[in-house]
Amino acid sequence: MIRCTALCTAGALAALLLAAPSAMRVTAAQEFDFDFDKPAPPKLTGIELGVQVYRPELGNCQLCHGWNGNGGRQFEDLAGRTYDPGPPLTESTMTREEMIEIIACGKLGTSIMPQYLENAWKPEHPCWGKTAAEVPDGERAGLWGAPLYLDEIEAVVLWIQTAYQGKQMSLEHCLLYFGPESRGCDTLRK
Ligand code: HEC
Repeated sequence: MIRCTALCTAGALAALLLAAPSAMRVTAAQEFDFDFDKPAPPKLTGIELGVQVYRPELGNCQLCHGWNGNGGRQFEDLAGRTYDPGPPLTESTMTREEMIEIIACGKLGTSIMPQYLENAWKPEHPCWGKTAAEVPDGERAGLWGAPLYLDEIEAVVLWIQTAYQGKQMSLEHCLLYFGPESRGCDTLRK
């Protein structure tokens, strides 16, 4: 049974028209059994979105800055060149705006801090007054994986400033990072 709104009905009709043999029509209609009235799961916001961005599945910030914000290990590429690891975010003195900017743009020079905002370095979002065209190849880290939206960058800064910057890791934040069932935070239980 197809349950749908007008949009879905149009889609189902299109699917039926596209499927030429009559046997296939039934299959196409059955495969279209999708409930458009069911609300999508709510998108995370605030600190819960921020910690999700920080973890491996989205921004993968932990790779260079450590799950607890204490900093990463030195990187070596295949040619044996070494790169400075991410600095401890627990010791960062940056403001919220400065953090948003470095996460959006990455860094100039040999630093491996990647760019995360897709439009950074374009005329609509110059970085340190420059666009990509004004920076020679290899002199900025650039996009490293999938880009983040601005609200995701703002959320990860909220996470950094709440859980790491100038802070000791708390049980509450550890459980937010690893999940409520995790034993990884047991040493923080009093
Ligand atoms: C590939 C390694 C790498 C990844 C991944 C990475 N960073 Fe960085 N990050 C760095 C390095 C290296 C620096 C130091 C940049 C410099 O000043 O030269 C840095 C600097 C920073 C700073 C500035 C800290 C300070 O006070 O100087 C912030 C904030 C930051 N990163 C946040 C993030 C966030 C959030 C993510 C994920 C969305 C992330 N980083 C992913 C390597 C990384």
